[in-house]
Amino acid sequence: MKMPYNSKTVVVITGASSGLGRDISITMAKNKNHHIVMVARNKEKLEEVKGTIEQNGGSATYYAADISSEEEIKGLANYLKEGFGKVNILINNAGLGIFKPMIELTSEEWKAMQDTMIFGTFICTKYLLPMILCANEPRHVLINSSYWGLKGDTPLCTAYIASKFAQRGISLSLREELRYHNIKVTCLLPGSIQTPFFDHGGGWPHDPNRILSSEDLAELVNDIVNYKGNLVVEEVVIQGVNPD
Ligand SMILES: NC(=O)c1ccc[n+]([C@@H]2O[C@H](COP(=O)([O-])OP(=O)(O)OC[C@H]3O[C@@H](n4cnc5c(N)ncnc54)[C@H](OP(=O)(O)O)[C@@H]3O)[C@@H](O)[C@H]2O)c1
Repeated sequence: MKMPYNSKTVVVITGASSGLGRDISITMAKNKNHHIVMVARNKEKLEEVKGTIEQNGGSATYYAADISSEEEIKGLANYLKEGFGKVNILINNAGLGIFKPMIELTSEEWKAMQDTMIFGTFICTKYLLPMILCANEPRHVLINSSYWGLKGDTPLCTAYIASKFAQRGISLSLREELRYHNIKVTCLLPGSIQTPFFDHGGGWPHDPNRILSSEDLAELVNDIVNYKGNLVVEEVVIQGVNPD
């Protein structure tokens, strides 16, 4: 099973069933040298994205997993090892936001955000790194934090902003660990994006014409991983021109 993938760049994208992760998967699959491995919990949605990619002539598979479950991420690592023998690019993108006053936030909601964004980023990176270390270039870990991981003075977002600051912190230290292995680490810090994100955890209505287009952001991510040689985009802050 490994042979057809030897010459391909294996790209693992978490949170690929919806929003930005879906668009990054579809955009990166336009490069016929890429094989995309999509990770999220909703199999039906992953199947739909796989179908879209294949209709466009791209190559993709998926592994349904909860990224906050260490057992399930060990399963993902085994699947990748058996099926591909390597990982070139890991995009830690999965996330969720629940927006309410701290006094109303439950411990379960707090933990869900920290477990997904902090623990999930840790275990996905930890268990996939051995396969990135043994891959040829490109070798890249991206962490999708948020503009709120840099500038967090927004109410109703305590748990979310804590987790996004943590993701930026992980990327800052991880970069120093991995640069000696010639592995690039990029932290994305985008402002509000037009995706189903705010449908799940509340929040507030945005003017879709003023916030970021998920497709545009996916193109930017694709550019970032395509820079060759010694150049790494360490952090990138992205906003709409006149954000809402
Ligand atoms: N939208 C914004 O305004 C905005 C701004 C800055 C940063 N971000 C960040 O961008 C990332 C993508 O968000 P989005 O806007 O594309 O939202 P979205 O459309 O709601 O997508 C979130 C994705 O994360 C996955 N996910 C959530 N919890 C998971 C878990 N425990 N295990 C596996 N997958 C999980 C979801 O898949 P399943 O439900 O199928 O598991 C889904 O694919 C998030 O990290 C978010 O914090 C968003």
